[in-house]
Amino acid sequence: MTSSLVGKVALVAGASRGIGRAVAAGLAERGANVCAVARDRGRLNELASEPAVRGRITAVPVDLLAPGIEDALSRQVPAVDIVVFVAATPLRHAALLETADGAWHEQWALNVDVPRRLIGWAAPLMRRRGGGSFVFISTVAAQRPLAGLGAYSVGKAALDALMRCAALELGSSGIRCNSVAPGLVHTERTHELIAATPLAGQHRQTTPLGELTTPADVADIVAWLACDQARTLTGQVLIADGGRSVGTFRAAG
Ligand SMILES: NC(=O)c1ccc[n+]([C@@H]2O[C@H](COP(=O)([O-])OP(=O)(O)OC[C@H]3O[C@@H](n4cnc5c(N)ncnc54)[C@H](OP(=O)(O)O)[C@@H]3O)[C@@H](O)[C@H]2O)c1
Repeated sequence: MTSSLVGKVALVAGASRGIGRAVAAGLAERGANVCAVARDRGRLNELASEPAVRGRITAVPVDLLAPGIEDALSRQVPAVDIVVFVAATPLRHAALLETADGAWHEQWALNVDVPRRLIGWAAPLMRRRGGGSFVFISTVAAQRPLAGLGAYSVGKAALDALMRCAALELGSSGIRCNSVAPGLVHTERTHELIAATPLAGQHRQTTPLGELTTPADVADIVAWLACDQARTLTGQVLIADGGRSVGTFRAAG
């Protein structure tokens, strides 16, 4: 257990399922009081009532794309030390030149506008508590874009750039900013893709460590980034893909 999260207040934006749910549970299991943000109130309440985290997770049903999220969050979250931004749109495959303006702007809104507003809301609260930590969930596709997912890849690359700008400007306040970039993770978001295509097997064959990253793996990295053991780390993207993006690899046999 990373005991340094005891007494910390964490906000996880996008906590109702998948990686965000695992991150919220992982932070709460390590002693943090977690405000779990998403639109699906039922799923948030279900998470909050899990025996392992009961009493340490509060459901905060908020649509991050709605106007005035700062006011909505301030009413329910008076203090914060850790902000983890996980929210994402469903996967929408489209060639770059065929991507509708609405789908393009949706990526920009969720990967740039919302995190920028979250930083603006949370940084003053963190300063009052002597510092803090932002962790953004990015993707390997931000550095090695996926054809057919251009809007997503560009949006996440912009999120990484935003993270680095914030790291430069907030470091003197003791506020650290980092990203975690997973490879393929089996969640509801990717379930159809994994079930209908040989993608997961191909990934295992071309990944040195031979396994897909799990939501719990990402949660462990986020918890470490959020705690004081990572106090010299800021402005970094940690790639959690089992080594797949390091180079060309094919399992023997
Ligand atoms: N799965 C992968 O293979 C993979 C790989 C690399 C990176 N990632 C990244 O990891 C993150 C999580 O992925 P995932 O697979 O766990 O996704 P997911 O299962 O689709 O979960 C997305 C979360 O975002 C929340 N959300 C979406 N729009 C929102 C809004 N407007 N307001 C508030 N909450 C909102 C959803 O909750 P509600 O619907 O309840 O609002 C949900 O909790 C994403 O940033 C994704 O890009 C995933």
